[in-house]
Amino acid sequence: MQHLIETQQFTRESLKELFKLASSLEGRREESLKGLIMASLFFAPSTRTRLSFESAMYRLGGHVITVDGDGSSSQSKGETLEDAIKVINHYADIIVMRHGEVGAATRAAEVSGVPVINAGDGNMGQHPTQALLDLYTIQRELKREDDIHIAFVGNLKYYRSARSLAYLLSKYNDIRITFISSPELVMGDDVKTHLKENNIPFTETENMAEGIKDADVVYQTRIAKEWIPDKNEYEKQRGRYIITRAVADAMKDDAIIIHPLPRVGEIEAEVDASPHAVYFRQVGYGLIVRMALLKTILGGK
Ligand code: CP
Repeated sequence: MQHLIETQQFTRESLKELFKLASSLEGRREESLKGLIMASLFFAPSTRTRLSFESAMYRLGGHVITVDGDGSSSQSKGETLEDAIKVINHYADIIVMRHGEVGAATRAAEVSGVPVINAGDGNMGQHPTQALLDLYTIQRELKREDDIHIAFVGNLKYYRSARSLAYLLSKYNDIRITFISSPELVMGDDVKTHLKENNIPFTETENMAEGIKDADVVYQTRIAKEWIPDKNEYEKQRGRYIITRAVADAMKDDAIIIHPLPRVGEIEAEVDASPHAVYFRQVGYGLIVRMALLKTILGGK
């Protein structure tokens, strides 16, 4: 793999290999990427993705250089993304980039001689590395790859990691999906068309209690203030689907709740002590999945 732009690039076999490597890297620090440099380009806000990639690179013995989207880089002078990437190619062996525009990662990859990893592009693009860690979490926690019912809840329209995960799930057998959202935030037609073409059954409902009662995985999302242009619409949507302790207690015994985080009230803090809550363990899985990605793409020994 040269660039990682979208989850459609993976096969079931390549996912298995990646996840096996991720598990083997748990708790490890090594020198396999010694001397290599990762450029960390976050032109849009991030805590987890940025710090976990940077931590992953250091844990593999590599180095990190960075620019911010806060006006301190030459983007603020009007430099094009393409020019910036061509320049950074001279400084780094791999680029991890988050950008506010859908398609920015593809544009970067088109002019880059070093691998580009999409760390999230725009409101309706993809966030492939988040989806990889979400899938790793599901398979590790449920101890199986097939026969899984997943309920996506809340903001399905403007949530790139849910979109990326839906594409990944189509690689597996006996997957059932329930999309739970208001009519204004339904999952995009491109994802639904892909699921139909791959014979993955899905239903859509506004009723959370009904939608999650048989689910093995509840994937909660944040109503993203930054992506919903109309303030009134944001206020209307916010708080519509909240996982309380009572909601969690009504889930199937072995079911799990995942969330890419950050959360802003859509999972109440009292749920954290529930046996269903795995979203903070999910963060730890993200580190080893990103270590495995860097090692795979950069060919670390
Ligand atoms: N889940 C996720 O992408 O978090 P950040 O925006 O903090 O990177």
